[in-house]
Amino acid sequence: MKNYTQAPLPFQGQKRRFVKYLKEVLQKDYNDSYVFIDLFGGSGLLSHTVKTVYPNAKVVYHDFDNYRQRLAVVSQTNNILDKLRVILKDYPRGKRIVGPQRDKVLKVLANADKLGYVDYITLSSSLKFSMNYGNCLNDFIHDSLYNKIRISDYNADGYLQNVEVVRMDYKALFKKYKECENVVFLVDPPYLSTDSSTYGSNGYWRLQDYLDVLFVLINQNYFYFTSNKSQVVELCEWISTVSTTANPFAQAVKINVNTSVTHQSAYTDIMYHYKKQ
Ligand SMILES: C[S@@+](CC[C@H](N)C(=O)[O-])C[C@H]1O[C@@H](n2cnc3c(N)ncnc32)[C@H](O)[C@@H]1O
Repeated sequence: MKNYTQAPLPFQGQKRRFVKYLKEVLQKDYNDSYVFIDLFGGSGLLSHTVKTVYPNAKVVYHDFDNYRQRLAVVSQTNNILDKLRVILKDYPRGKRIVGPQRDKVLKVLANADKLGYVDYITLSSSLKFSMNYGNCLNDFIHDSLYNKIRISDYNADGYLQNVEVVRMDYKALFKKYKECENVVFLVDPPYLSTDSSTYGSNGYWRLQDYLDVLFVLINQNYFYFTSNKSQVVELCEWISTVSTTANPFAQAVKINVNTSVTHQSAYTDIMYHYKKQ
């Protein structure tokens, strides 16, 4: 099975920095008799990683964002990129696209749009400023475009091979498996107060949503992802000092990974993992 260390198509919030640590803990604590449920699947990178370690284990990927649809049109996306490479072959790299080239680029997008689904999120990495994603043609028509065309084609062969894909409310998925013996939940919710508009939901993750997720950790095997920007763990610690409510992170092991977006804005991503005794 091909081993991806990052999602084959761009995905904001993918946990590529934890792939190595996740593999280590999986190898140490689990085996392929376990069932792994990726409740907030995103790009499916965690599900894929579990499959590379335990090809025979059952792995369920919650594809809330319909990432599969993006994977299904990889060759169309590569086709569009081919056309853009020709238009921009003499255009300075990294520069804002203006004039006739901009009109030609938009024409390629408009033609593709007429033919069916276009993976605008992936195209954003080639045409927009970093971290700036568009979801539809209008998001490109009404924005500045830059020549950041990816040089090589995308390839997603075998990425979700033998992974079971579902799309439902995460609470319903949890309910379905919570009584299962040997189940492990991979829990990577959107960050608190993040705008999930590049994700499939239109929602905004509020404190209430974030706290609700903690119910899935109680008395379960889990991997939970958060960051030092979220104070949820601190809140749980505080609650357990003033009430009899148990802190779901009390017995968990913590792994930190430092991330620096720019020199000014460094933060720490965190993975907690816990296995029932
Ligand atoms: C931080 S991302 C997960 C990233 C993923 N672990 C990866 O490595 O690509 C959080 C995901 O939760 C999804 N999400 C938002 N609301 C959700 C819900 N109600 N149920 C399940 N997933 C949801 C978001 O769309 C997003 O894909």
